[in-house]
This record gives sequence, structure tokens and C-alpha cells, in this order.
Amino acid sequence: MSNKETSSLDHYISQIDLLLNRALQKIDQLHWITLSSVQIKNGESLPDARTVVLRKILKNRELVFYTDRRSPKVEQFKQNKNAVALLYDRTAQLQLRIHGVIEIDTQSALYEDARGRIPTQAKVNYNTLHAPGSPAHSIEPDRNKEVLHFALLRFLPHTFDLLHLTPEGGKRIEVKSTNEGMLGEARWLVP
Ligand SMILES: Cc1cc2nc3c(=O)[nH]c(=O)nc-3n(C[C@H](O)[C@H](O)[C@H](O)COP(=O)(O)O)c2cc1C
Repeated sequence: MSNKETSSLDHYISQIDLLLNRALQKIDQLHWITLSSVQIKNGESLPDARTVVLRKILKNRELVFYTDRRSPKVEQFKQNKNAVALLYDRTAQLQLRIHGVIEIDTQSALYEDARGRIPTQAKVNYNTLHAPGSPAHSIEPDRNKEVLHFALLRFLPHTFDLLHLTPEGGKRIEVKSTNEGMLGEARWLVP
């Protein structure tokens, strides 16, 4: 591989953390991430996806999302921990597709800290009487304000797949990550 090729590989590797750090900012379009899962319906494995807000990135590049612990995605991740997080920067024409596994966290210190910091106005996201996705009698669901059905979704990446669209064609790299968040060697992929 030529020096030029290596330096552009390094350039694209550095884009991974740049995109992830931007996704933490509330003013950035990347703050809203598509998180996919696998659901089992009538014995069939089917894809599912939804938008979630990126709340935190831990040292090992673990991404932390908040959710209602009764939501269908939680059951899906309990049955199949595999997930994909998808980010797209429309201006820079960069797509970051991250394959990893999800752990549901309802007991760690991180969980307790996050739970304690939920702003009052955001508690509506975790205090409906019935589980998200269940039928509601009216536009406003019943609530029990004494309870918070809160959980963390902790997404541990194992593969980063970055695609850059350019007028000359796509440039694409793949980088593997260890559980500790160490990035391995990157390689070019056909876009
Ligand atoms: C802009 C936006 C941000 C959202 N953020 C979250 C979030 O951070 N956590 C979450 O559980 N649901 C969030 N939702 C709702 C989910 O997309 C989804 O509708 C809900 O969690 C139920 O998903 P499920 O049926 O796959 O469990 C958000 C929706 C939108 C439109």
C-alpha cells in the first residue's frame, strides 16, 4: 500500500471518532441514530429499526442510549443481542454503519447516575402505565408518575464500516474493534 493510501486510511479512521463525538452534540444532525435489531415473529427472524438519541460514549467506544425497559426493542435485544447503529452525515456524504452487541443495563452505577439525572419534563418517556407499543385509549396515555421504567441500552461496537461518497465514486473502510475499544487495522472495501 502506498504512503498516500495509508495516510488516507488514517484520515478515514480518524473520521470514525469525529462522527461519534459530533453525535453527542444536541445541535448536530448525527445526534439521532438509527438503531436496528432482530425480532422474532411467528418463528421468523425479522429486521426492526428505530431512532434513538446518543447520550454518552464510554472509553471503549461503547454507545449509551436511554429507553423504556418495557419497550419491544428491549425484549428483542434480550433474545438477540446483535445490533447495528447507523449514522449519516448528509453534508459530508459519510455513512457510518456500526455492528455490535447490546446489553440492557438496569443496575450499574452508570444506570443509577443516568436515572438520577433525567429531567422532570423527560420523565414522561418512562412513566406510561402500559408498555410502549401497547394499545392506548386516547391520544394521551395513562401514566403512573411514581414509577420510571428506565433502562440503558449499552451498545458495544465490534465493526465500523465507513462509506464516503465522492464525485469520483465511494471510498469505504472497515475497522474491527476489541471489547476494550481498541481499533484494529483498517482495510479498504469495495464501496
Ligand atoms: C427524534 C426521535 C428520538 C427518539 N429517541 C429515542 C430514545 O432515545 N430512546 C428510545 O427508546 N426511543 C426514542 N425514540 C422513539 C423510538 O424511535 C421508538 O419509536 C420507541 O422507542 C419504540 O421503539 P421499539 O418499539 O422499537 O421498542 C425517538 C424517536 C424519535 C422520532
